[in-house]
Amino acid sequence: MARGNGPWIWDVDGNRYLDLVGSWGPLILGHRPAPVLTALHAQLERGWTFGAPTEGELQLAATVSERMPAIEMLRLVNSGTEAAMSAVRLARAVTGRAKLIKFAGGYHGHADALLVEAGSGVATLGIPGTPGITTGAAGDTLVASFNALADVEAAMTRWPGQIAAVIVEPVAGNMGVVPPEPGFLEGLRRLTRDDGSLLIFDEVITGFRVARGGAQERFGVTPDLTCLGKVLGGGLPIGAYGGGRAIMEQVAPAGPVYQAGTLSGNPLAVAAGLATLDALDERAYQQLEDAGARAANALQSAADAAGIPLTVNRVGSILTAFFTDGLVTDYASARKANATSFASWFQRLLAKGVSLPPSQFEAAFVSTAHDEEALAFLESALRYSFTDLQLAGASG
Ligand SMILES: Cc1ncc(COP(=O)(O)O)c(C=O)c1O
Repeated sequence: MARGNGPWIWDVDGNRYLDLVGSWGPLILGHRPAPVLTALHAQLERGWTFGAPTEGELQLAATVSERMPAIEMLRLVNSGTEAAMSAVRLARAVTGRAKLIKFAGGYHGHADALLVEAGSGVATLGIPGTPGITTGAAGDTLVASFNALADVEAAMTRWPGQIAAVIVEPVAGNMGVVPPEPGFLEGLRRLTRDDGSLLIFDEVITGFRVARGGAQERFGVTPDLTCLGKVLGGGLPIGAYGGGRAIMEQVAPAGPVYQAGTLSGNPLAVAAGLATLDALDERAYQQLEDAGARAANALQSAADAAGIPLTVNRVGSILTAFFTDGLVTDYASARKANATSFASWFQRLLAKGVSLPPSQFEAAFVSTAHDEEALAFLESALRYSFTDLQLAGASG
């Protein structure tokens, strides 16, 4: 791609596309939003790294804390991968336990222990197992099915006193969008509390996207630790992990759990993040909800009109159209979607000027920049996009 503006991107040949990827989530205000551009210019004039805390970093921490009261203290890092990796290390240190429960199709970045049965690119490419990762690193990772509390309970029964944490995307976004069923997140909260393990919400996608205070606000469940990224940096590299003071004070230099980063809390990323969060008021969240609903309706009605079975999952401004007529509630049901048909449909839409995530197992993102013109363009591009689509036999 060569450039972007609002909801549009242009490739190097000058072709324009409606962007439904949004750099995989960070661009919640679209490309080059004025407040972020202004904040970046101002920060460039002041310098872009000091190796010491800045006022902006403290302001960003305070803003996060205000939106997510469960985060009393946080540490800024450079990516979602670092956030999840560091949160897991901290959970292991404070519990004195080794094992970790994650969910099949969940993606938490590419730290070794977290790549087991991962979603996102690992799911898209069908990469088997975890080459390059030692059995030692992967052996403490237990995998449960998303929305299946019984799996988590069984693991806790089998490994009593050994599970450090359960890490979950509160809305799964990396097997395509899969919402938590009612009671699932509450159940994880109860089970981890009873077990003495920590509940880690990986809100790298959902943080500041599905609600002002993320999924923990939207679903009313409070985790012990939260991982953030994407929207937090408004499109510049950032990540964060945080939680209650007692846990976070175990991180060095206050405590013994080491973690550091040369460019962590980078002033440019912090400036972009602050400007982004400042722009995300109640009106913006309503806009995101409305734009997401309109995109989902357009997908469903175009598929219905063409007689193509399609299941559209959506939470706010993130959505996935699965080529299946069954409910998609976990990784196994997501994998039943016909990825070959998805690929043909994706190419059709690209030719019509719509840039979707190029995988059946990813979330599409709309932004506040997806205005009337953009949504009408999408509806028009979708209208006949399913017509005469050959449904391939093979899935996965
Ligand atoms: C839920 C989740 N966690 C962690 C990550 C890793 O973040 P990053 O790509 O910034 O390392 C991602 C990236 O897509 C993600 O979706």
